[in-house]
Amino acid sequence: METWDAITSRRNVRSFEARAIPDADLDRILEAGRRAPSSRNWQPWDFVLVTDREQLGRLAGVWQYGAHIADAAAAIALVISAGLSAGERETAEYDLGQATMQMMITAADLGVGTGHSAVGDQDVARAVLGLPEDRVAAYVLDLGYPADRPLKPIRRPNRREFGDVVHRGTW
Ligand SMILES: Cc1cc2nc3c(=O)[nH]c(=O)nc-3n(C[C@H](O)[C@H](O)[C@H](O)COP(=O)(O)O)c2cc1C
Repeated sequence: METWDAITSRRNVRSFEARAIPDADLDRILEAGRRAPSSRNWQPWDFVLVTDREQLGRLAGVWQYGAHIADAAAAIALVISAGLSAGERETAEYDLGQATMQMMITAADLGVGTGHSAVGDQDVARAVLGLPEDRVAAYVLDLGYPADRPLKPIRRPNRREFGDVVHRGTW
């Protein structure tokens, strides 16, 4: 897929085919996250890949709206230090967004759908993922082939109008 097609095809996917994602494709998605830019190149993240069905089912409990994780072919937990200051956490959020987006676009390029999930229950995340005490799961990205229809470029995205969003030179 062309980069532009991957960008315009990505959408939030919450229902998945049962089909597994090849290991090489999962590795490519994870590598895309590893290569993401970050503030001072501090790379505040670790990624925990989950493909075990029973583990995915339990991971769905991290968030009240996370049920879709249970049906995913895989999930990637984005893990950061529990000891960040408020300022560091703010910077980490930006960097996690960049890593997430890079993984999502790479997944779309491979025909793999993705969906975000926040993490509300750190105890569940810690128990399921075996996280050390000094780490927390910031977000979970679930992955799989879309159950409804394959990814393809979205012609009319549900976004604010281009002219409303874009300001040239001044506001
Ligand atoms: C930080 C963040 C957290 C999100 N959390 C959830 C979530 O918990 N559950 C969910 O279904 N979607 C979640 N989303 C997905 C957004 O609702 C979705 O990306 C947005 O509606 C745009 O739709 P699209 O991704 O299909 O373009 C999250 C998105 C972001 C950026």
